[in-house]
Amino acid sequence: MQENGRSYCGRLTLADAGREVRLAGWVDALRDHGEVLFMHLRDLTGVVQVVFSPELTPSEVCELAGTLKSEFCVTVSGRVEERAEGTENPHIETGAIELMVRDLSILSRAAALPFAISEKAMVAGGSTAAPDTVSEDLRLQFRYLDLRRPSMQQNLLKRYRIIKTARDVLDERGFVEIETPLLTKSTPEGARDFLVPSRHHPRHFYALPQSPQLFKQLLMVAGFERYFQVVRCFRDEDLRPNRQPEFTQLDLEASFIDEELIFDLVEELAASMFAVGDITLPRPFPRMTHRDAMELYGTDRPDTRFDLQFVEATDIFQGTQYSIFSQICRRGGRIKGINVRGQSERLSKNVLQNEYAKEIVPSFGARGMTWMRVMGGGLESNIVQFFSEGEKQAVLNRFEARDGDVILMIADASHELVLSALGQLRLHLAERLGLVPHDVYCPLWVTEFPLFEASGDGVTSNHHPFTAPHRDDFDPSDREGLLQLRSRAYDLVVNGEELGGGSIRISSKVLQQKVFHILGLTDGEIEEKFGFFIRALDYGAPPHGGLALGIDRVTSMILGTSSIREVTAFPKNRSAHCPLTQAPSEVSLDQLEELGLLQPGETRPNPGVEEQKDLVDSLSWVSRIGVGPAERAAIVSALSDAMQLAQIVDSRECDQEPLFAPIQVTHRMKEKGPACVSPLAADGQLLKNAPAVKGSYFKVAGILD
Ligand code: AMO
Repeated sequence: MQENGRSYCGRLTLADAGREVRLAGWVDALRDHGEVLFMHLRDLTGVVQVVFSPELTPSEVCELAGTLKSEFCVTVSGRVEERAEGTENPHIETGAIELMVRDLSILSRAAALPFAISEKAMVAGGSTAAPDTVSEDLRLQFRYLDLRRPSMQQNLLKRYRIIKTARDVLDERGFVEIETPLLTKSTPEGARDFLVPSRHHPRHFYALPQSPQLFKQLLMVAGFERYFQVVRCFRDEDLRPNRQPEFTQLDLEASFIDEELIFDLVEELAASMFAVGDITLPRPFPRMTHRDAMELYGTDRPDTRFDLQFVEATDIFQGTQYSIFSQICRRGGRIKGINVRGQSERLSKNVLQNEYAKEIVPSFGARGMTWMRVMGGGLESNIVQFFSEGEKQAVLNRFEARDGDVILMIADASHELVLSALGQLRLHLAERLGLVPHDVYCPLWVTEFPLFEASGDGVTSNHHPFTAPHRDDFDPSDREGLLQLRSRAYDLVVNGEELGGGSIRISSKVLQQKVFHILGLTDGEIEEKFGFFIRALDYGAPPHGGLALGIDRVTSMILGTSSIREVTAFPKNRSAHCPLTQAPSEVSLDQLEELGLLQPGETRPNPGVEEQKDLVDSLSWVSRIGVGPAERAAIVSALSDAMQLAQIVDSRECDQEPLFAPIQVTHRMKEKGPACVSPLAADGQLLKNAPAVKGSYFKVAGILD
């Protein structure tokens, strides 16, 4: 392929042999063979070997080539040639050819690199530096270099393809993309808001949207019927591996529909997006109620790539003599277990008792774990002696146990604890025993989430407060009844990861107000926070529902990357900080004042911080001792103490003896009195030897400001 006379490195093939071409790109790697210099030239399409050889390349070009370094930006021209047999490079797509250079221009030189960028070995069997060895913060600080790496470029190019595919599918199904505001009012999704102060309205703030939830519902009220948007969302929430403070959603909403349309549409969408990564998602996606997900897997996002489903055993032990179980049964607790089939050889008594029962399971919050190995048609463990014959037989039957199986049980008075600990144990075992198949994708709809969940004495929304309940005749004062209510919310889970979530919405004003009241909002608060939205429900709101997919998570899963940061061009690091731009950063007091966050004359938000920062810089400069960001806080605090002490001493409030002193000390302060002027000052005699004078002052080099 050629454009403006330029060919592309990765697109050259054997068919181009004999052609004169011009290439542009970056020096990926160099190999100097004395007379002959080999270079890998890289552009967005790939890498090709170019050769500077005294036989074919003019001597001045060879000389210039001798100055090349990695990541110089260059153009070269010359003839494409088939490589001699045995010199082909299987590491690059263009390994059968090379370019014999006639001309070279250096467009731009590169400084010494903070890390290696090349990912392609120059010779068969060669290796290149693994990027994983570079610290992530360094990669993010030089992200523009990190993104030069072919693997990172592929990630972003594929991300573009995945989003484009989704847009095409939605377009075909009559959805239109409509932008919604980023400077807006709080949209509750369970996280804290990022706030933006308004200059025109001092002490008033916009919130960055946690999602376009309210606006997309308003677009339904407005009659657009089928909306979507690839949209940035902002959430100030606890940091987790697959979370970013700003991330991208594929957000959609439709009117006059029910769950089935969403399931059908999103299955088509997800299948097309995964197909970009050559992954076939089996359709239709299975469905599971939230209750089943919790009872069978202990989580609302089950990884269904492997079995290890929970088995209920509470009823088996209702009348047991085994005291731990009988106490738990008496307290209304639960006993559940899993059968790890055919693994008794790998799960020895020692591993089960000393690792799992004593260490691992307690780290999941449970007090312990009961284990049994199935041998000779019976159960073997340190506690089965306390079980009756009937109980043993019931366990064997219920767990469909066969020789070689290992049955693990967790019992506790708290049902939630049993589910959560067993859920974590399930994942731990699957990982340890290698039961998680690779390159297998198991999508699952989790449905019928609870509408509310307990929060202190009250309740809070399990999804967001706009989710429709299964029925609307509930009693707002019956907390237990409210916690039993199911909602019309659904999550798309793949391989144990939540990729998307949505619901059918409340479209009645009365019901929406009822939910807000249950969440503890007063009429005044409803009006202040959601008045604009509630009012819209008064004007013929259609029934509607939708969903949002997390684009970063979907892309990361399709591409099999270790984190969503690998598919985000400029992500924040694990501490929500951007090592490239150093955001978030302090702003000047002037800016704060302009935004109305600091009134003239008002004390500064963190008194002294600004001055102390400069003081630290000055001290660091004067002492020639560098102060790193991690040390700054300690130094600021030490300086602040020192300054306070100095003030106390200066104001003579200090009449305490020093703690110890080698000699008898007393405080000696010069009495403050009127300034006395030397008679030598008047005729300039006093300052005659001063290196610099300002007015009637002797100027000294600034040391400490
Ligand atoms: P929800 O809060 O479930 O739903 O978000 C939808 C999807 O967005 C992704 N996601 C994130 N990805 C990266 N970093 C984050 N911090 C982050 N938070 C969420 C997840 C999640 O499944 N308005 C509703 C959707 C609706 O009801 O239509 C919403 O935002 O993949």
